[in-house]
Amino acid sequence: MRTIRFGIIGCGLMGREFASAAARWMHLTKASARPEIVAVCDTNSDLMGWYRDNIPTLSQITTDYTELLANPDVEAVYCAVPHVLHAEIYPAILAAGKHLLGEKPFGMDQAQNATIMAALKARPDLLVRCSSEMPFYPGAQKVIDFVRSGACGRILEVESAFLHSSDINPDKVINWKRMVEVNGEYGCMGDLGMHVCHVPLRLGWKPARVQASLVKRVPDRPDGRGGRVPCRTWDNATITGMVEDADGQGRFPLVLKTWRIAPGESNTWSLRVLGMEGSACFSTKNPRQWQFMRYSAGGGQTWQVEDLGFTPQFPTITGGIFEFGFTDAIQQMWAAFVEELAGGTACGFGCATPEEAADHHALLTAALAAGLSGQAQDVDYPS
Ligand SMILES: NC(=O)c1ccc[n+]([C@@H]2O[C@H](COP(=O)([O-])OP(=O)(O)OC[C@H]3O[C@@H](n4cnc5c(N)ncnc54)[C@H](O)[C@@H]3O)[C@@H](O)[C@H]2O)c1
Repeated sequence: MRTIRFGIIGCGLMGREFASAAARWMHLTKASARPEIVAVCDTNSDLMGWYRDNIPTLSQITTDYTELLANPDVEAVYCAVPHVLHAEIYPAILAAGKHLLGEKPFGMDQAQNATIMAALKARPDLLVRCSSEMPFYPGAQKVIDFVRSGACGRILEVESAFLHSSDINPDKVINWKRMVEVNGEYGCMGDLGMHVCHVPLRLGWKPARVQASLVKRVPDRPDGRGGRVPCRTWDNATITGMVEDADGQGRFPLVLKTWRIAPGESNTWSLRVLGMEGSACFSTKNPRQWQFMRYSAGGGQTWQVEDLGFTPQFPTITGGIFEFGFTDAIQQMWAAFVEELAGGTACGFGCATPEEAADHHALLTAALAAGLSGQAQDVDYPS
């Protein structure tokens, strides 16, 4: 099995998830390549003990990403840093000749995304993908396959949502994800937008115009030092737009919800497609099951619920009766990236592409303008 040597830049929440997924690569039974983490970089050196203790293959620990990029042993990089740094670090990774799995949103705003896309154009020899793991849940794949099979008939509505709720607590201390200058003007849309756009864009659902309802309910937050500071990022966004049928014979609404304050929801990703002949839905709230309905004129309208258990895209040692979860989705996404790096096809559903990330920026930019102006806005897709 081929080994691909990785460096990680940004060793916080998501950096650790990759390190953990890579450490249990033996979980996958048919992988054609495996990642080996050889270098890590974070400006916060306090994070390094965990990596030093748990990754025996590590030969470089640094606080300066240019040192990691100068390391000839590093073939590919996972970069998981705050949004404002994407446009600086992603191009540097590509200029150093390393493959990249970059975290969303792939630049803090559309201009910064354009900087990344320009750097990418200069290195077509490198594989670049954008992180988005939720569609790798087996239930999500079932909904995608159902749609691709044509079972829906004329679509009535698609809703793709990502819901969080911890921000409902006004006493939650501010972090970079609530700061416009680090997270971006999109606020919750930049944070959660790629998660809700990945599948719609992959299925070709691109609304030409969008409207957006933006919600701000917590105007300031504790600064962690006894005071309060303004919190200007949008809390919730509901984006709507009409999507043209593939044959141009009709249209249906696409609803995208990126909510940081959805009471009771901890990290709920869901996808629901309603159609004249078939409907299907999946939510991570109920990770074992998906639901679907097939309808023909005059017939009954009966939702069916199927327990899927552990039936991922890339086979694993886990028995089919067990549950799939977040860390499995992360590993499946990584399996797709590593498979592509090894020359494979990622079993028919690959990671989000840079073009999809650029399209999602076009959509979010229009949504932000629509939300601020109260007027629907055209979406200027680059692809
Ligand atoms: N795919 C997902 O489900 C998911 C979930 C959460 C976050 N994210 C994304 O991952 C990225 C990081 O988010 P996170 O939650 O891991 O944040 P985090 O704050 O936990 O980690 C970011 C790390 O980057 C480090 N850093 C900052 N500047 C740096 C620099 N110049 N060089 C090296 N390291 C630097 C910080 O010290 C921090 O440890 C963001 O793009 C975010 O949108 C993705």
